[in-house]
Amino acid sequence: MILSQANWNTLKRQGFCHIKSIFPWNDLPDCREISKLISASSRTIEDIPGDLRSFLANEVAPTFDAAISNLKINLSKDFEWCAIHIDPKKSDRIMRQDPGYHSDPIIALNGAMDWHLDHGSYYLHRDHTNRLIFYFPIFKETKDKGNLALIPKDELMKIDPFTARKVEGRGALRFRVVEPDTIEWFKRRFQTHNLTVGDWFAIEDYYDETPGWQLCFDPEKEKIVPDLEVGDCLIMRADVIHKTDDSDINRLSVRCDIPPYNVLRNINFVHRMLIKMRIIFGTKKAAYYLKKIEKVI
Ligand SMILES: [Fe+2]
Repeated sequence: MILSQANWNTLKRQGFCHIKSIFPWNDLPDCREISKLISASSRTIEDIPGDLRSFLANEVAPTFDAAISNLKINLSKDFEWCAIHIDPKKSDRIMRQDPGYHSDPIIALNGAMDWHLDHGSYYLHRDHTNRLIFYFPIFKETKDKGNLALIPKDELMKIDPFTARKVEGRGALRFRVVEPDTIEWFKRRFQTHNLTVGDWFAIEDYYDETPGWQLCFDPEKEKIVPDLEVGDCLIMRADVIHKTDDSDINRLSVRCDIPPYNVLRNINFVHRMLIKMRIIFGTKKAAYYLKKIEKVI
């Protein structure tokens, strides 16, 4: 995949760019293997079949040098892979019984993610400036459903410059609206605020000193939702606010992240040591999440 200068300019301005038709959909390696893994596994799968990985890596690798020079970011030449599955048959809204300070009061069981900046990669490497994400739909029934929604960086700077500056290079943030059935949770978290249903908040999941802050905009009114098809790629910086736009169709996508230069490689032993170090020396919020990861690896 080779990006035009217009593509790079869009990526610089918005923080993301939709590249259309980089390969014919029937060129993709057989995805039956990954489909089997999905039916037997949870929503995020890290074990991507080798032939699919090398097919997509061949698309990503030619963009490295231009990404570094156009975006002025410091990337490694490593790949981090995962697949995300949306299952429309499962529930997208379940109210948690007595949600704690760190938890979301509402959870989805179908793989959909509400507005956020990714957590795991930020807890480990604390650098979402120098991380680039290549997102490929692998199967998808229709282009206008099962997409990602994103908040363009240039628009964010116009409508809420405080938030735009706060999220620069960041991860480990959620963005949620106060609803009639979640207002009690918000009252416990934002004790000094006068809360109203319909207010939007950034939920700070990294720094211990603050619960977060109120947004000056409604992400649902500012979002852009590219219509992605199999054969397309969405390239995004890791500090672009995003979510699953809808979970109406069965959809599988593979994500290839290029992590920052100089991070410890994602080898099992090193990975475990890094998690332990961050639990001991990081913030309490980071430790809370990383202890959960530590239990499952
Ligand atoms: Fe995400």
